[in-house]
Amino acid sequence: MNIDNYKDIIRVMMGDRRYTHSVNVSAEAVRLAKKYGADPEKAALAGILHDITKEVDFEKQLQIIDSGDIILTDVEKKTNKLWHAISGSVYIQKKLGITDPDIINAVRYHTTGRAGMSKLEKVVFLADFTSAERDYPDVDVIRKKAEISLEEGMLYGIEFTLKRLLERQGYLSLDAIEAYNEILLNR
Ligand SMILES: [Fe+2]
Ligand SMILES: [Fe+2]
Repeated sequence: MNIDNYKDIIRVMMGDRRYTHSVNVSAEAVRLAKKYGADPEKAALAGILHDITKEVDFEKQLQIIDSGDIILTDVEKKTNKLWHAISGSVYIQKKLGITDPDIINAVRYHTTGRAGMSKLEKVVFLADFTSAERDYPDVDVIRKKAEISLEEGMLYGIEFTLKRLLERQGYLSLDAIEAYNEILLNR
């Protein structure tokens, strides 16, 4: 299958806005992959697939996660916004036959990050923040950081997310905190 086949698959699984977002994330991931030395073809595919299950209802997402023999932590059970990354990583293996662990992990950790991310994982994480249609406050700041290094871009993205969660006493992802600490340790 080529990238257009995968675009056709996601097209019927989501609304127009999310489809546009997915296409834009894919394009931005390719750009960042070329800039930072990740595989552009894998970046294109991971970008297209990253939100594949975001519009699948939560009950069904839990079934998908369960079918992948993944046990959610208590915190993960409470943060249903993060389920699509986990269910998406299982879905692309089981339904689409994707076997490349780097693509699977890029989908799995695109929302939280984690310690020990590959270049491809970082590229997809960052592309999700900086894709063309994004217009939240500070998007220009993170776009500038993304030109300095993948890690500086990610650090700002994780800070942005953690700050928002702290403001409303949201649950913090341990994976996100570990990604944050690792970037600071290696700075
Ligand atoms: Fe997502
Ligand atoms: Fe996304």
